[in-house]
Order: sequence, then structure tokens, then C-alpha cells
Amino acid sequence: MLYFKNTFKIFFTIAVFLVATMNFQLAADSFYQKESGYNYYLDSCAACHAIDGKGNGPMSEKLTHQPKDLTLLAKENGGSFPETMVYQIIDGRRVVLSHGTSEMPVWGRRFKVIDGNEQAVDRRIGKIIEYIESIQLQ
Ligand code: HEC
Repeated sequence: MLYFKNTFKIFFTIAVFLVATMNFQLAADSFYQKESGYNYYLDSCAACHAIDGKGNGPMSEKLTHQPKDLTLLAKENGGSFPETMVYQIIDGRRVVLSHGTSEMPVWGRRFKVIDGNEQAVDRRIGKIIEYIESIQLQ
């Protein structure tokens, strides 16, 4: 009887432990899922383009060119958001030299180091684009 009691105790302890770590894992997952384009934007873009996207972030004074006002991209493109162009600008690895200047970091290369694979890089850039699209002025 004692044997069973102890076995039960051990199983019970393990079960409690598993449920606890599972919950922790779920909480961690949902935290990372909430890591939205806004957070990625803050990490990678806001220093130059400012939190509100208007282009006067704290680093902008040190640059030769004023960072682009990212809230006007759709307006300047006849009302439609230039998604492909923005994707290529952010990625930076395939940008033709005539487009933009070398002051824009080549994020594709950096995200590859952070994220490890192309799908994750694509997802991250997609989230950033979603965010930028959401701050377009009419
Ligand atoms: C180190 C400063 C800096 C950071 C960080 C930065 N940018 Fe820029 N960005 C610039 C500057 C300066 C320009 C305008 C001139 C140029 O193209 O270099 C620009 C231009 C742009 C343009 C317009 C390009 C064009 O040709 O019209 C887009 C879109 C853009 N940035 C998006 C982003 C996004 C999204 C991020 C974050 C992933 C980001 N930038 C991070 C400095 C920066």
C-alpha cells in the first residue's frame, strides 16, 4: 500500500510539474505571438523613422539624409500602399543601387542572423509591413 502511495505521489508530482511547465510554455508562446510588427518596428526602425513614423527619430540628426516619412508611402503612391517596394527596401539585399541610399541598414542580412532562416525573416518583414501599412495617412 505504501509503495502505491509513494508511486502515486511521484506521478502526481510529475504531473503537476508537467502541467505547470506546459502552462508556462503556453504563456511564453502567446507572449511571443503578441510580439507584433509594432515591436519589430520599434526595434529596427524607430531610431531613425521615429515612433510615429514621421522620420525624425533620435538618430535622424546624425544622418546625411532625412529618414523617409513612412506614413505617406500610400499617399505618395497614388493611394495604394507600395508593399513590394517597401519589402525590398527593408530587406535591402536585392535593392538596386539607384533606389535609396546606403544609410538604410540592410535588414535582410541582420534578420537572417537573428532569425536563422528565410521564412522567419519573411515573417518578420511581413509583420513590419503590416504595421507600417496600418499607420498610413489618407
Ligand atoms: C539608421 C537609420 C535608419 C533605420 C534604422 C531605418 N531607416 Fe529607413 N530610411 C533611412 C533613411 C536615411 C532613408 C531615406 C534615404 C535613404 O533611402 O537612405 C530611409 C528610407 C526608407 C524608406 C523609403 C525608401 C524610398 O526609396 O522611398 C522606407 C520604406 C524605409 N526607410 C523603411 C524602413 C523600415 C521599415 C525600417 C526598419 C525595418 C527602417 N527604414 C530603418 C534611415 C533608416
